[in-house]
Amino acid sequence: MIQYSKKVIEHFNNPRNMGEIKDPDGVGKVGNPICGDVMKVFIKVKDNKIADIKFKTLGCAAAIASSSMLTELAKGKTIKEALKITRMDIVKALGGLPEPKIHCSVLAQDALREAIKDYLSKKRSG
Ligand code: FES
Repeated sequence: MIQYSKKVIEHFNNPRNMGEIKDPDGVGKVGNPICGDVMKVFIKVKDNKIADIKFKTLGCAAAIASSSMLTELAKGKTIKEALKITRMDIVKALGGLPEPKIHCSVLAQDALREAIKDYLSKKRSG
């Protein structure tokens, strides 16, 4: 049995910012080919800041808790600050993750970066 921290269980039971943003400024979708989990992050950007962020995660408890925590960490941050959020920030904020579950937090980090990349590329071309 994997032991999760209280914070992980709390975010899993009560995920923040779950859902979809209609008309997002950027979308990031990442998957882990080994466990098959998929994570999608939607962002809305205003004045170079993450004004809104939502996620949809088809995955394990740690992936859902990581996405939820990611949205809390990213909201209100500038694009530059948000790009600096690492899996370690997510793990720390969650009060730790069991070793075999670290990759779940990597998914959250990467999904946000993909969403920002998507936003920046649209901005450049639009
Ligand atoms: Fe793959 Fe958690 S087991 S994201």
